[in-house]
Amino acid sequence: MRRLRRTQVMRDAVADVRIDPVGLVCPLFVTAGERSVPVASMPGVEQLPVEAAVAYIEAMVGRGLHQFMLFGVTAESRKDPEGNFAASEDAPVNRVLNAMGGRQDVIMIADLCFCEYTDHGHCGVLHPSMEPWTVDNDATLPRLAETAVAQARAGADVVAPSGMMDGQVGAVRVALDAAGFSHVAILAYSVKYASSLYGPFRDAAEGGMQFGDRRDYQMDFRRAHEWKEAVARDVAAGADIVMVKPAVSCLDIIAGVRRHCSIPVAAYHVSGEYAMLHAAAERGWVDLRSAAVEQTTAIRRAGADLIVTYFAPQLLDWLS
Ligand code: PBG
Ligand code: ZN
Repeated sequence: MRRLRRTQVMRDAVADVRIDPVGLVCPLFVTAGERSVPVASMPGVEQLPVEAAVAYIEAMVGRGLHQFMLFGVTAESRKDPEGNFAASEDAPVNRVLNAMGGRQDVIMIADLCFCEYTDHGHCGVLHPSMEPWTVDNDATLPRLAETAVAQARAGADVVAPSGMMDGQVGAVRVALDAAGFSHVAILAYSVKYASSLYGPFRDAAEGGMQFGDRRDYQMDFRRAHEWKEAVARDVAAGADIVMVKPAVSCLDIIAGVRRHCSIPVAAYHVSGEYAMLHAAAERGWVDLRSAAVEQTTAIRRAGADLIVTYFAPQLLDWLS
């Protein structure tokens, strides 16, 4: 066995898996503010004003990164119980889509959820009477549909419903088709577990909950088989790409999904996975570059065709 490990060129020659930048998706946080604001728990990640985000995307496209997933950072004054600002033309995400839409060399993916826009921080509208509180699944669906159409109109190539409402993919597909956006694709968060690894994201997007948690709409990581049903439903409802999230804690699930369906599979290497590597690297306990390349390669090896990762910009350097 060791004969094929002897030199770098030998190891490269027999490597089965490598990461191609064309399959990387770079998440971005877009703010209406004037200045870029670093995210403390995510070194190297900043909330970007609209113009800065557009400039950043253009620079990255020049370097070979083509897919961007946009999350909005919303001023408290613009938040309300329904998250209405998500569908506004003035929302920073929609302004960036407007500036970039229609380009052939970039894939603009719009996060489709309300937690970045609701004052309570949950991913949908709250039920009017259930105690103490719950997100109203069926009241959220038409709002998702409407917001998806607004994002498509702004120029999204792909919308990514991430709120884990039952029926979200079908509702969005029907609405996009009816509004003349049958060419807009859906990246479905089909398998998204309630995870402790989303904390830094909630700082970055300023979308933390004011009360409660998300365990009644995101999946329970103790369930080993539920993903099959979740993927089947989303594929039947019109998902173009299915996603598993988080990634490194779910390599078994990624492998299962890859075998189970024939459409592209994405995996989200989440904020906590990014933050953990940075925290350890800062202490000198791991080498950031090697660890990031190892984890993203493992996600690829598990079967992910697309990888959403905050390491995307650095991977361009590290892999070249
Ligand atoms: C919200 C959303 C979250 C992430 C993506 N979309 C947070 C959550 O579900 O609470 C997490 C991404 C990450 O941690 O990098 N719908
Ligand atoms: Zn959400």
